[in-house]
Amino acid sequence: MDVRVSAGMAAAFRAATRADIPGIVALNDSTLPHVNELPMETWLRFVDGEASLRVAEDGAGGIAVLTAALPPGRDYGSHNYAWFQRRMARFLYLDRIVVAERLRRQGWGRAAYLDVFASAPDPAAPVACEVNLDPPNDSSLAFHGGLGFREVGVQDVPGSGKRVAMLARRPDGVAEPSLPGPDDGATLRRATAEDAGAVARQVAALRGGLDTEPTGVDAASIAGMLATGRLLALLAERPGEGAIGIAVVAGSHEGGGFGVLAGLHVAPSLRGRGTGARLVAAARREAMARGWRSLEATVPDAARFPAAKGFLAANGFVPAGARLRVLLA
Ligand SMILES: CC(C)(COP(=O)(O)OP(=O)(O)OC[C@H]1O[C@@H](n2cnc3c(N)ncnc32)[C@H](O)[C@@H]1OP(=O)(O)O)[C@@H](O)C(=O)NCCC(=O)NCCS
Repeated sequence: MDVRVSAGMAAAFRAATRADIPGIVALNDSTLPHVNELPMETWLRFVDGEASLRVAEDGAGGIAVLTAALPPGRDYGSHNYAWFQRRMARFLYLDRIVVAERLRRQGWGRAAYLDVFASAPDPAAPVACEVNLDPPNDSSLAFHGGLGFREVGVQDVPGSGKRVAMLARRPDGVAEPSLPGPDDGATLRRATAEDAGAVARQVAALRGGLDTEPTGVDAASIAGMLATGRLLALLAERPGEGAIGIAVVAGSHEGGGFGVLAGLHVAPSLRGRGTGARLVAAARREAMARGWRSLEATVPDAARFPAAKGFLAANGFVPAGARLRVLLA
């Protein structure tokens, strides 16, 4: 498939052959740790038909772009592939997309996705992939967010030390709704003014834990702030239980450009299942969509909240002056 990219160039995508493998491996391995290494045996299985392995050349005989995608039902020992397989009946798993560094931000990545959707064996299946949250791959999060992918879960990849956001997008451009996962059974969504009561209860629970006066948490003032966008609240909900957690994000009072993670709370009986990490990941995504450069948080009092600083560090926050900060772009 030919797709126009910048400067009048057209990217011509085709199925990879065995002769492409040295160039493919060189391109793949230039991008570690954003994508992982694969043994030669797996590349050979991919090119021989286990995956749809596709490339576009750069005009000088090199490989400019590679994509590898697998339908359900393949014997592929990836925890991320298995995660989608457990939850989605139909999908095309995009195992990797790599654009040569010198060609980035010129439309090749977007062109590669047009080719992935156009050459998909099941034209109605959502495309699913993961992006690293830790170590963070903010370029890829921005890239996939811009293409309409949405987070449907988060997982800590066993044995890798990596935390990844699980993303999906349907071919018609509509994002997949959050998939309830066996990890926390929760779905995440942005609160509207109609959720003011649930938000007020979550904020009161958070304030209770902080042992401060629950001032300014009445539903009416929260409804007003949610309606005007002064406050952004992400609710985690479980079927039959309603809201079980919340992330509250506000624009900085100190001028534009960054946001503040003003509150994060998960019901005590449901902690340790990944809901907090999913809320932070969703808050990061929302902050990025607003064009903020960073999301900041107050350093928690270690004596009273011994786990909080480690939790924020595990979710990408690093010390910055008197606060903790995660850079978004
Ligand atoms: C992620 C990747 C494939 C994107 O490819 P690309 O060719 O640079 O992407 P495009 O030029 O088609 O970008 C399309 C849009 O995505 C967004 N985008 C891409 N890279 C971005 C970045 N670094 N920061 C912010 N937005 C970005 C922009 O909206 C961009 O449109 P614009 O340039 O008109 O603003 C490329 O950065 C890459 O190969 N990274 C290393 C490997 C990797 O991380 N793969 C993904 C693993 S999950």
